[in-house]
Amino acid sequence: MRPFYLTTPIYYVNDLPHVGHVYTTVVADAVARYRRLAGDDTYFLTGTDEHGQNIERAAAEQGVAPIELADRVVSRYHQLWDELGMSHDDFIRTTEPRHRAGVEEMVRRIEAAGDFYVGKHEGWYCPACENFYTEKELAAERRCPVHERPTEWKSEENVFFRLSRFQQPLLDHYAAHPAFVRPESRRNEVRSFVAGGLRDLSVSRADLGWGIPFPGRPGQTIYVWLDALTNYLSALGFGGGEAGGGDGGGALYERYWADGEATRVHLIGKDILRFHAVYWPAFLLSAGVPLPTTVWAHGWWLRDARKVSKSSGNVVRPDHLMRRFGADALRLFLLREMVFGQDASFSDEGFIERYNADLANDLGNTVSRLVTMSRKFFDGRTPPVACDDNPVRRAAEAAVAEYRREMDDFAFQRALAALWRLLSVASGYLVEREPWKRIAGEGASDGVSRVLWNCLEAVRLVATCLLPVMPRTAPRVLAAIGVPAPPASFDAGLAWGGLPTGAPLPEPEPIFPRIDKEAYVAEVEAGDQETKDEPQAAGAAAGETAAEAAAPKIAIGKFFETELRVGTVRVAERVPKSNKLLRLEVDLGEPAPRQLVAGIAKAYEAEELVGRQVVVVANLEAATLMGVESQGMVLAASEDGAPVLLAPERPVPPGTPVK
Ligand code: MSP
Repeated sequence: MRPFYLTTPIYYVNDLPHVGHVYTTVVADAVARYRRLAGDDTYFLTGTDEHGQNIERAAAEQGVAPIELADRVVSRYHQLWDELGMSHDDFIRTTEPRHRAGVEEMVRRIEAAGDFYVGKHEGWYCPACENFYTEKELAAERRCPVHERPTEWKSEENVFFRLSRFQQPLLDHYAAHPAFVRPESRRNEVRSFVAGGLRDLSVSRADLGWGIPFPGRPGQTIYVWLDALTNYLSALGFGGGEAGGGDGGGALYERYWADGEATRVHLIGKDILRFHAVYWPAFLLSAGVPLPTTVWAHGWWLRDARKVSKSSGNVVRPDHLMRRFGADALRLFLLREMVFGQDASFSDEGFIERYNADLANDLGNTVSRLVTMSRKFFDGRTPPVACDDNPVRRAAEAAVAEYRREMDDFAFQRALAALWRLLSVASGYLVEREPWKRIAGEGASDGVSRVLWNCLEAVRLVATCLLPVMPRTAPRVLAAIGVPAPPASFDAGLAWGGLPTGAPLPEPEPIFPRIDKEAYVAEVEAGDQETKDEPQAAGAAAGETAAEAAAPKIAIGKFFETELRVGTVRVAERVPKSNKLLRLEVDLGEPAPRQLVAGIAKAYEAEELVGRQVVVVANLEAATLMGVESQGMVLAASEDGAPVLLAPERPVPPGTPVK
């Protein structure tokens, strides 16, 4: 088996994950699953980048230690990767001792090669990138070209890495290995950057406490990018640290990195290309470590033509979509919608249209139609007679070959398009052969069996190819058409003829129910308003930021500014056109009940609330949600975003204060 090592960038812990982070990891997971099914000895790494000024600042702003902030955000990453069905083999944190051992080894080797020296470091510095820029690289008004935020002038004594020495070796490497940077447009960009001349790189910081101390250079901390990039080696046990799964002694490093047969791929966003395609190979050349095979840079998800990111205040939280429509639907959308390497625009409407067209209709309806017919004609079973040579088979074989070629080349959009073309060939064939008419004349004949079997077999191949992209629902599609367990490999699963004949077919159940677009858009608008008007409203967790996750301490007086009272629900009903909102009338012991709007409709039926006691913020400014005025707020615990109402331990008179 060929070793295949695949990494995502390690993510900063000063922010909760957003769609950009999810995208890279979803791509990596799909590739890893694809490689495993294709028979490669695959190792998939992700993790978090926890040192540096950004994290130190974010933690200070929230009044917590950096490691506390990191722990909290890391647990959110673990939870999200779980929910998304990520199959990584290891998760590295740069605060782990094994990582530090790897970084120290890297520094020792570069030092031994004579590529460090001490010098003065000056320039325009962007704290968000943790990077210096030259005057000509800056955007207007000396703003950072990536974040468009003002840069600051900085000057200090640092350790420098002799990057300039690697200009020619890097150019030679790019020339000899055309696949080193992909896509090609990015390779040209990198090559012309390097050809333009390389300045030595400062690789330490004097005023940074939160990082790995520079060995042998008291008072200096290792520059966060030298630290972070080395994760790709330290996770494998480079430097003697323990690798994932308790492997000691660098066996994983030998197997997945040093082995001449191994393919080593770094998946990254284009924003961090220079670090991966220029600095990283230069560090490795200096340290005498083999270079990665490919650095694959994808584009950005944009919203309103701007990169989705925390620092631009323009964030799409994936947990929203995932919880609402399922992780697999989000995974498919991300892979199908973006041409890998280019930018793409994100919109909820686009997501729903794709879902309804691709999943509810093309896949879901096709499956349920075929299964329903087959059950009816063939006594609850798959068709009894298979078919060897026919137009669907020819289309299927071409589609599977195209899918494999495009997946091998990271052209996910084209790979998936090939599968959907096959679904449409199968539907066209079904319409043309009209088995529902033939059944009347010829009964459950071999001919009718063959037509249905061909279409079901095409669906089986599509679902098998979807296993890497939709790891939870593709097996359900297979089960729905009579294939009880997904195949362990493509060799076993992608040959024509795998659909069992005469196998029992379970009663069809909707795997991808259609989404009512208007209702969802109304729900999102209401949600946006809730987060604007009532940041604490139930359901706001999806918009929660790291800052809220670690709020600073307040004096008790401030708490008492909030008037909390127990109320009894007298009336409860759904807000029209909203899936999320309930309108309540709550008795707070006042002359008239209060009208409140609460985002709890997904967790509670209106009827079950009448007569129940709740805790209400009684002195909140009124807000209007979906056209209904809310005169306060109902309190709920937010369990992963799902509201759980708070209530007194035994009934108390309406209006009783809570303190
Ligand atoms: N910590 C560094 C990476 C160190 S790797 C040795 C970092 N972290 S990050 O949290 O900012 O995540 C960066 C990665 O997230 C990008 O490279 C990209 O993979 C992904 N994305 C972040 N925003 C994105 C979009 N709006 N769209 C697509 N992906 C983007 O940089």
